Amino acid sequence: SAKEKISYEGYKVYELLPSNEEQLALIRSFNYHQYIDFWSEPKILGKPTTVNFWSEPKILGKPTTVMVPPNLQASFTSTLASAHINYSVLIDNVERVNNAEQARQAINARPASGRISFTEYQRYDAIQNYLSELATNYPDIVSVEEIGTSYEGRAINMIKIGAGASDNPIILVEGGIHAREWISPAFVTYIIQELVENEDNRNMIENTNWIIVPVLNPDGYEHTHTSARLWRKTRSPGLLCTGVDGNRNFDFHWMETGASALQCSNTFAGSAPFSESETSALRDVVLQYADQIKLFLAIHSYGNYLLYAWGHTSDLPEDVNILDALAVEVESAIASVSGTRYTIGSSTNVLYAATGGSADWVKGVAGVNLTYTVELPGGGIWGFDLPASRIIPVCEETFEGVKVYQNYVENNF
Ligand code: ARG
Ligand code: ZN
Repeated sequence: SAKEKISYEGYKVYELLPSNEEQLALIRSFNYHQYIDFWSEPKILGKPTTVNFWSEPKILGKPTTVMVPPNLQASFTSTLASAHINYSVLIDNVERVNNAEQARQAINARPASGRISFTEYQRYDAIQNYLSELATNYPDIVSVEEIGTSYEGRAINMIKIGAGASDNPIILVEGGIHAREWISPAFVTYIIQELVENEDNRNMIENTNWIIVPVLNPDGYEHTHTSARLWRKTRSPGLLCTGVDGNRNFDFHWMETGASALQCSNTFAGSAPFSESETSALRDVVLQYADQIKLFLAIHSYGNYLLYAWGHTSDLPEDVNILDALAVEVESAIASVSGTRYTIGSSTNVLYAATGGSADWVKGVAGVNLTYTVELPGGGIWGFDLPASRIIPVCEETFEGVKVYQNYVENNF
């Protein structure tokens, strides 16, 4: 059935530039407002808190981007004005930009060839077909398994890749938990292609096994293609509003901070930890292979961050030196391709506290020491619409970072 398209008519996007802690606290408090949609997280101000003082220690001056519906704009801007918060209007009417962007994508879209392509963003079915094709063509190194079913009944698949011993250390990669972050499934699918179809990367699968979930939230992902480009959550229904933020739904300090108890919020943590079939599917895979998984990557966009634990406290994890040193190496490998820089640090310290994320649960509960949330580059008028022409350059540079991660796992486990 053809679904009604959600209109963003009159929605505006603001860039907020806090200049002190009180202003920042006020901006953070909007996060508890159900209808204010944060496109980028408010960032900490003040003295360096990352371990690498040389890697952009001072975050002040980076704006927070939020989308506000028409009926809230007057009170929102007057709140900003009375708190003397500097802001500007980045997008005057989101719907107009949305229509223009969709028209542009329609022109660029090419008919599906059966093979995967990285010159356009792929629908869920195309990614599924690609996984099946790999399972058929490379039965010795690939298997595809359904790890669960989304609320609307779509298969959530993982692909297992390995050309060596079955007890090799595992790297687990999660993509597409947030529906609108299209570069995430694209990059994760690219990793799959490089590992399976590029002979040059044979060493990456001989001493390491991989479990990769390219689209953890298929309902949300499809919804962003058919009905609402800026959808983030799952599609499970609530009394008032649809969907749960999958990256607030994991059972580690659940609902403590940076997550909402309000159903309509974009950071709604769910009625209970693991209320979502999507997050429980990932949980079960992680627990099944917990002893063997040595590295976990959660792929998001946007903002160029390599984030490690924790989201519930500004205290650094015990193994921070290892986590940080590895991220520094990854970052410089990415930067060496064409100069793209990332900020490295604990998620609370370089962004802000938020609990229920997968990376913290995988570390804190499943006991995998090396876990990272990767925020890929953004682009387009909104950061979630990295132009399709940028998919390949971003994938190529970021894959250099994946090589560093793999190398570390191969040499240390
Ligand atoms: N942008 C991601 C999210 O909102 C990353 C969260 C990182 N963790 C944090 N505590 N800020 O889920
Ligand atoms: Zn995300």
